Amino acid sequence: MGTDDSSSSTMPVLVGAKRAMRTVAEHHRSVVGFLLGFFVVLLLYTTVFSQFGPRTAIGAPRKPICDLSDPRFDICEISGDARTIGANRTVLYVTPFGELSGNSQEWSIRDQSRKHLEYINNVTVKSVNNASSQASLAPACTSQHAVAAVVFAMNGLTSNPWHDFSDVLIPLFITTRGYDGEVQFLVSDLQPWFVDKYRLILNNLSRYEIVDFNRDAGVRCYPHVTVGLRSHGDLGIDPARAPRNYTLQDFRLYVREVYSLPAPGVDIPYKDDATRNHTEKPQERKKPRVMLINRGRTRRFVNFPEIVAAVRDAGFEVIPMEPRRDLGIEELSRVVDSCDVLMGAHGAGLTNLFFLRANAVMLQVVPWGHMEQSAMRFYGRPATEMRLRDVEYSVVAEESTLYEKYGKDHPAVSDPDSIHSQGWQLGMRYYWIEQDIRLNVTRFAPTLHQVLRMLRE
Ligand SMILES: *[C@@H]1O[C@H](CO)[C@@H](O)[C@H](O)[C@H]1NC(C)=O
Ligand SMILES: *[C@@H]1O[C@H](CO)[C@@H](O)[C@H](O)[C@H]1NC(C)=O
Ligand SMILES: *[C@@H]1O[C@H](CO)[C@@H](O)[C@H](O)[C@H]1NC(C)=O
Ligand SMILES: *[C@@H]1O[C@H](CO)[C@@H](O)[C@H](O)[C@H]1NC(C)=O
Ligand SMILES: *[C@@H]1O[C@H](CO)[C@@H](O)[C@H](O)[C@H]1NC(C)=O
Ligand SMILES: *[C@@H]1O[C@H](CO)[C@@H](O)[C@H](O)[C@H]1NC(C)=O
Ligand SMILES: *[C@@H]1O[C@H](CO)[C@@H](O)[C@H](O)[C@H]1NC(C)=O
Repeated sequence: MGTDDSSSSTMPVLVGAKRAMRTVAEHHRSVVGFLLGFFVVLLLYTTVFSQFGPRTAIGAPRKPICDLSDPRFDICEISGDARTIGANRTVLYVTPFGELSGNSQEWSIRDQSRKHLEYINNVTVKSVNNASSQASLAPACTSQHAVAAVVFAMNGLTSNPWHDFSDVLIPLFITTRGYDGEVQFLVSDLQPWFVDKYRLILNNLSRYEIVDFNRDAGVRCYPHVTVGLRSHGDLGIDPARAPRNYTLQDFRLYVREVYSLPAPGVDIPYKDDATRNHTEKPQERKKPRVMLINRGRTRRFVNFPEIVAAVRDAGFEVIPMEPRRDLGIEELSRVVDSCDVLMGAHGAGLTNLFFLRANAVMLQVVPWGHMEQSAMRFYGRPATEMRLRDVEYSVVAEESTLYEKYGKDHPAVSDPDSIHSQGWQLGMRYYWIEQDIRLNVTRFAPTLHQVLRMLRE
């Protein structure tokens, strides 16, 4: 764990390190679950014989371009004769005759958007001269494909929904949406649960079967192979660098479309009678609906029933949600879509924000310990970019269980900066892992009224 550096170099060191440690801890727990729970091995072979076969270069020489310059990801793009040897985690570029006179070139990169994360295993990319001396290095194709392929890893910090989206799904959207489905995914360290959970998105981004790369014994030949995933930031898309200048808002709309949620023009449920459930009593339909997430292990609301009652008293309908209750994502997406407000303590449950409608509110409870910057970075900014309304409620020390546990004079309670200055591990321990929240519903009431006013605007 200590050797992990999952943070990008653009991330403030403290925030990045804390995030990494927390998510790594969650990752370990969940990996055990998956190892026990899943033994299914997908071994899918697709053989799409191309009419044309791999194209050879005409005109300007082409080379595999491995770009190692981005702080978040490494990526290789191979055009021409690309051959994948999944069992060897290798992708070859067979250069057109005469292009490469010297030795072959070789790269070794992590094929996900976290180039520093040691959990991601490397893939080797080699250019092989088609001259006779090296011809044996390029094994013959066992299948030829007419479409492009992308090699990427599904392991890493996935299983925490924030990482599922930030590390894989958004980077995959950025890297492959421009193909309109005409691309095949060769997945290294394939996670069957991930394929199952996000099948609607994966099946839309690619209309071809997903290949379990590590177990793929064949030599697949493609006219174009990308190794790695591009990423522009934490839960972010930079339109200037995205295909078709896609924005994060476009991604939200895309996800909603894939999950068959109401079209972009449809108002928040509170204001949109057409999509309300008309079997409900009229007076119930006049209340805006809050999905209230209670985290399972860390940063829990210890007075959850009292909070539910307070939110109801303020004039909302409440749908309590325990993230670990395994609702299928399709069902969950419909419930979130039916809500006007998504409320929870800072944490991965808020990743459901992709299923909200424009102008819905994300109400984030920011725990004690100067966590406002992380709250903004990981959820607040993405929410605003997606035309959701971001409301943040920062707890005071008295609302943290650290106060009950250590008393008001302990530095973790009285002086978070002094804790953060002693290294990220300590801040992680107190604020991300150890503390729970006893929300002061009196102090919180004005925030609820503010949200109500926003929804009525
Ligand atoms: C995979 O690697 C092994 C060991 O280096 C090698 O013997 C084998 O030929 C490789 N497979 C292919 C298809 O190149
Ligand atoms: C490699 O060489 C073989 C025979 O020498 C030739 O048929 C093939 O087209 C060449 N491939 C490329 C990519 O130049
Ligand atoms: C794996 O890839 C990363 C970058 O993606 C690189 O920094 C590292 O050196 C590679 N590891 C090996 C063993 O080649
Ligand atoms: C992906 O979803 C979009 C929007 O629903 C749809 O137009 C497109 O045909 C889908 N593509 C595939 C490959 O299913
Ligand atoms: C996206 O925007 C950038 C600058 O903002 C522009 O240079 C680029 O051509 C655009 N790309 C597309 C595909 O529209
Ligand atoms: C609509 O409300 C009724 C009664 O509350 C409930 O049984 C039904 O499942 C709801 N339908 C939807 C689509 O939410
Ligand atoms: C809760 O907040 C109210 C209003 O800010 C304050 O008067 C009260 O003392 C707080 N209660 C506790 C237990 O801290």
